[in-house]
Amino acid sequence: MIFRQFFDNISSTYTYVISSGQGREALIIDPVLEKVDQYIKLLNELDLKLVKVIDTHIHADHVSGIGELRKKTKCITLMGERAPADIVSMYVKDNEKIQIEKIELKTLYTPGHTDDSYSFLMNDRVFTGDTLLIKGTGRTDFQNGDPYDSYNSIFERLLKLPEDTLIYPAHDYKGENVSTIGEEKKFNPRLQVSSAEEYASIMNNLNLSSPEMMDIAIPKNIFPRMKYE
Ligand code: FE2
Repeated sequence: MIFRQFFDNISSTYTYVISSGQGREALIIDPVLEKVDQYIKLLNELDLKLVKVIDTHIHADHVSGIGELRKKTKCITLMGERAPADIVSMYVKDNEKIQIEKIELKTLYTPGHTDDSYSFLMNDRVFTGDTLLIKGTGRTDFQNGDPYDSYNSIFERLLKLPEDTLIYPAHDYKGENVSTIGEEKKFNPRLQVSSAEEYASIMNNLNLSSPEMMDIAIPKNIFPRMKYE
């Protein structure tokens, strides 16, 4: 299997390129517009054909590369059915299977960071978007975020996965790149709570400033074909 993790150091976004092998179909999760040429270079070098590209949710901090990748490779753009993006060519439901050659991902609807947040389970690993981060969780204060939904998505779905399941998030701000369900259960400071209320009170008191790119990124990710300047 080919599994590559890219990092965009402007938005601290992780992007994943996955394929079962050389000359095979490939899938990309959470691409960043400015890095599209870099992904295409890797695909060409490894003789891979991009067939599907996924965004875990509408991102607020960077412009997604899914539209550009579709333009350049004719791949299928895929998001969960709650996503309002008009660039999507295939919407998936909770518990749906997404396949490329020899690789299967299962969709988990995990709202809370946003109401269109989905995680994607692939055998021993799960792509959690911004729902569950390494030693953190995605903020819940805009894009229809809700700390109670976040609590349920994390505690009732993600933390029910086997403890050795690898977690690959959409962001990290501290230089970490992978964790496990077991480690997050024990060491994620936001998960050391005894109730949804306690979690919500942490999330409602983060007092974070808005992402710098928010007013540009959200509309561009929802309506990428519109002109904004
Ligand atoms: Fe996000």
